[in-house]
Amino acid sequence: MLYGVFSDVHSNLEALSAVLDYFEDIGVGGYLCCGDLVGYGADPDACLDRVRALPNLSVICGNHDLATIGRLDLDWFNQYARAAVYWTRERLSPANRTFLEGLTARLETAGFTLAHGSPRNPPEEYLLSAAQFRDNVPFVRRWPLFVGHSHMPLLFRFAAGGRDKVETLFLEDREEALPRAEGGFGPVALNPGSVGQPRDQDRRAACAVWDTEKGTFRVCRLPYDVPATQAKIRAAGLPEYLALRLDYGQ
Ligand SMILES: [Fe+2]
Repeated sequence: MLYGVFSDVHSNLEALSAVLDYFEDIGVGGYLCCGDLVGYGADPDACLDRVRALPNLSVICGNHDLATIGRLDLDWFNQYARAAVYWTRERLSPANRTFLEGLTARLETAGFTLAHGSPRNPPEEYLLSAAQFRDNVPFVRRWPLFVGHSHMPLLFRFAAGGRDKVETLFLEDREEALPRAEGGFGPVALNPGSVGQPRDQDRRAACAVWDTEKGTFRVCRLPYDVPATQAKIRAAGLPEYLALRLDYGQ
């Protein structure tokens, strides 16, 4: 079965539409979303409406979602993120607010684990280093682990031959084989990158496909109408920087 894996939509409807259209085209049978549905962009309700309607969806919340519903302190948010949280909070529909209130920042199922940032500190830790991967392994019972938060398409796994060395891969558009273990997959952390605000100098929307039978994970990059998204951010009165950064993928 194919899963469409995506994260960090950040209220970017044009990017989300490109990703969901692609998933539908290739016939995914389920969806995994690693949080941060809202924040930064101008279409929080439209994005949540699309995601909530997906069949066979496993979804968690991120730090921006939690801040929007008043469950995370805004002290660590920069001025642009904070402005977007306040803007979103005032506009979110009651139904979408209730939906966000029902999510957790970590979810374990029989076949995988989702955590927005990391398993040991789901809403806040950025999983970016080999040492962090190693430290987080004891917090996971079901692999693969899917994360978001950093907005970087990354893979962490142990190198062949034991647990002495951790491999860190920046994921581009090619299939990566996942480590197998008895009854499923072995330790591996996978970040599909960000749908709505990539930060790896590639402005195209990022998402990924997990093929459970082949045991592969492939990041995909999809172009979308960036000027349309920027025009909405400006028309909404959100900070200009939030529009500009989409040009550069950062
Ligand atoms: Fe995010």
